[in-house]
Amino acid sequence: MPVRSVVKGVGAYLPERVMTNDDIARIVDTNDEWIRQRTGIARRHIAADDQLTSDLGLEASRAALANAGADVADVDLIIMATTTPDNTFPATATRLQAKLGVTRGPAFDVQAVCSGFLYALTQADNMLRLGQARCALVVGAEIYSRILDWTDRGTCVLFGDGAGAVVLRAEETGNGKGERGILDTRLGSDGRFYDALYVDGGPASSRTSGFVRMQGQEVFRHAVKRMSESVEEALDAADLDLDDLTWLIPHQANSRIIDMVGRKLGLDSDHVVVTVEEHANTSAATIPLALTHGVERQLFKPGDLLGLTAMGGGFTWGAALIRW
Ligand code: UT7
Repeated sequence: MPVRSVVKGVGAYLPERVMTNDDIARIVDTNDEWIRQRTGIARRHIAADDQLTSDLGLEASRAALANAGADVADVDLIIMATTTPDNTFPATATRLQAKLGVTRGPAFDVQAVCSGFLYALTQADNMLRLGQARCALVVGAEIYSRILDWTDRGTCVLFGDGAGAVVLRAEETGNGKGERGILDTRLGSDGRFYDALYVDGGPASSRTSGFVRMQGQEVFRHAVKRMSESVEEALDAADLDLDDLTWLIPHQANSRIIDMVGRKLGLDSDHVVVTVEEHANTSAATIPLALTHGVERQLFKPGDLLGLTAMGGGFTWGAALIRW
């Protein structure tokens, strides 16, 4: 029987402080109507001054472990997707490992910006299926508020802070009716678009951490194309069709991007999970946040096919198919 990575639990964390569109309109020349119409965003959460990315990841991880009914001692792999690490090194995953009290297995970060969670999930899935780990914690956590230029209305209105986590276990699930877990993952990148979405700092280039810079329309076009195509590629690879897809759990950057991807994949809007209104774009955290939203509302039924997809800086993109 094939070994698959099965989602045993999900969890999310959003910092207490909420910043509405009206709050942002007091800082830069923008307004609630523009932000809602162009992006679907109503508010974002902002980390407290003394909170680090590892703290957000810790809250989400604890929630995911509780949801899985798993003991922290079971965890033998931690992969954290983040673009806003606590420090340049070591990996924020190692700090999370220590805060959780995990002492075995590797812990490392993955940096693929908004596609980071899918890159991390893919790596965990491969290690679980190869028998290199039995119980993985895959975390997406970000504090974007610290890399935003709060004078640039073209970017500062779009992002927020947050974290989400998933507990995966290697299980023999069988084929056909008994099939469960991650069926396929697809990843891609094209570094020719490095400058279309980047941070203008970093230890090697400027000794500062820098701020987000973005060519919004270029990113928008590519996001719609890459997100929909990568789901189709994953379906092809798993010998499935668009008709088999039950749910779309897309990266939450902009509700217009999400609508267009959903339409291209032929899904009704009530089968597309949209949470961007509540927390804006939290980069690597949006997919586990959206998954948790769906689980809390009992949207997914056993046997449903979930399509996860994202696109982000690099450009990077990817998709994963999960049989629930
Ligand atoms: O994970 C990937 C991360 N990034 C994304 O997914 C972003 C993808 N791109 C987008 O979501 C959209 O391109 C934006 C939301 C960033 C921008 O929407 P747009 O419809 O592409 O607007 P635009 O850049 O063409 O700007 C239209 C107008 C401009 O004014 P003029 O030149 O027409 O007078 C902008 O200066 O809107 C103005 N504008 C704003 N107005 C009010 C830009 N930002 C704002 C703002 N408030 N915050």
